[in-house]
Amino acid sequence: MNISSKPSAAAAKAEPVRKAKKLDIDLASTKPGTPGGIFMRQFWIAVARSQDIGAGKAKPIRIMSEEFALYRGASGKAHCVDARCPHRFAQMHLGWVEGDDIRCVYHGWKFDGSGRCVEQPAEEPGFARKVKIKAYPCDEYLGLIWVYFGEGQPPAFPPFPHRDTPGVIDVWNVEHVPCNYLQSFENSMDEVHVAFTHAPGGSHAKLSLDLPLISAEETDWGMLRLGKRKTGLARQSLHYAPNVTRVIVPPQPGMDGVGGWPEIYFSFTPVDDENHLWLLPAHTQVAEGPERDAYKAKRAQFEKTLAESRKSVELARELMQGKHNYADVRHPDLAVVQDIAVQAGQGRNVDRSREHLGRSDAGIIAWRKILSRELRLIAEGKPSKRWKPPPADIKPTLGF
Ligand code: FES
Ligand SMILES: [Fe+2]
Repeated sequence: MNISSKPSAAAAKAEPVRKAKKLDIDLASTKPGTPGGIFMRQFWIAVARSQDIGAGKAKPIRIMSEEFALYRGASGKAHCVDARCPHRFAQMHLGWVEGDDIRCVYHGWKFDGSGRCVEQPAEEPGFARKVKIKAYPCDEYLGLIWVYFGEGQPPAFPPFPHRDTPGVIDVWNVEHVPCNYLQSFENSMDEVHVAFTHAPGGSHAKLSLDLPLISAEETDWGMLRLGKRKTGLARQSLHYAPNVTRVIVPPQPGMDGVGGWPEIYFSFTPVDDENHLWLLPAHTQVAEGPERDAYKAKRAQFEKTLAESRKSVELARELMQGKHNYADVRHPDLAVVQDIAVQAGQGRNVDRSREHLGRSDAGIIAWRKILSRELRLIAEGKPSKRWKPPPADIKPTLGF
């Protein structure tokens, strides 16, 4: 996806529509060795839900166009190693987890969580010392497993703070979205779409009363975005570099009436340049006691209904193929279906050079400017920005 570099939000006031210029740098690729790939690998990346990998289990994952094996040791600790055994390249997830080690299914070589080969049943003693599998720092936060794929020491963990008022954290369904991650990350900066994309079904009606005026500013840790309404109130949303949006959103259908609107920490994780994951912890403020019990009961019912329904991405694909009328489609996770259809429907990895960005795209314009500057510095071998841990006192607001 070739993406245009755009003027700042301030310049957005000058003219309502501007034609994008083609850039020679690919903002969307996160393949290893590309500027975007090097940029992303400076950060902790969410790769899976904690609840989806039990102790003693291993599974293959594909992240930023590379394959890995993710496993959870008997101690409960999550580990991430290269997908293939360094002996003759059997897939590591096929093997056995033993304690916190993983043993290859092909000839039994065993590796510890740091990647050291600790056993080779059919080899001479001493050979194991010369063999390693690459292991990546791995930790857990907000119900997700996070991995650091970069060189050297990882940045501080956890990568960002969360609201610590009494509440419940649920991790919503993982979505496999068939397009580049940047399309969805940018969509999360585009508050104006809410009034149109989510009009059918009415899930976001309160956010659609008047159209917000969007502004955005770069911070030490990413980007702060405001959606100001005619009332004078502003909805503040946070975009943590490189791919997380922290925002307050409407409750899922059937979940209103218990607790406030959930605050989500939405990770858009690249699988490769044409696919990404939605990994989505949600913090809902509910006091302990009867209110929390009521919330949990509703949540369990919602999960059951969702499990019995069509997969969001399948329905979104059918919308893209014209099999349904967009305005008529209903689903327990309708906003998810709508967003996937609109994002993936643009194409797998879009050439943005022909877009016409306006003032409502101020968030997207600002992020592309940051991203293109950083990727250019990386491409030129120059020092890029030293990102700082986000402070705990900057939080999203609802804005109405
Ligand atoms: S390929 Fe893994 S032990 Fe031989
Ligand atoms: Fe949306």
